[in-house]
Amino acid sequence: MFDLAPDPDLPKAMLYAALARSAAALVEGERDPVANMANLAALIWHSVPGLNWAGFYRVLGDELVLGPFMGKPACIRIPLGRGVCGTAAANGSIQVIEDVEAFPGHIACDALSRSELVVPVMSAGRVCAVIDLDSPELGRFDQEDADGMMAIASLAAQFL
Ligand code: SME
Repeated sequence: MFDLAPDPDLPKAMLYAALARSAAALVEGERDPVANMANLAALIWHSVPGLNWAGFYRVLGDELVLGPFMGKPACIRIPLGRGVCGTAAANGSIQVIEDVEAFPGHIACDALSRSELVVPVMSAGRVCAVIDLDSPELGRFDQEDADGMMAIASLAAQFL
């Protein structure tokens, strides 16, 4: 059983170290991608403070398709190269967006979102998915968040 609650005072290094351990334990011995993405989205949501959306988009052909997530219902299909998620997927690059309204082509799924972090999941040298975190706080994400989520993306690459 998981008894989780985000602790806004926990230093990020400790938060992400704990998150990485819990994430590895959650997916240990399970290969089903939907089950693992669902559990990781829930784990992130209940571990990382200040989020209003956390989840996965998978690359299918030339678009991203919504995967398991926590938060409000979201856009289902995003063309590669469009919005923050599509940019991360098309370039294989981490996107740390301080102010989503200043990002050309940002796709607003929740009007409350103010900042966003998207990390690509790389498998066999290609982007197979992205992990997307949204926050209602401006400038919520920094390099420590990006590094922490990259560890989760590396884990996800093992079952996606
Ligand atoms: N804001 C994203 C779209 C996905 S939702 O935030 C869940 C983007 O611009 O790609």
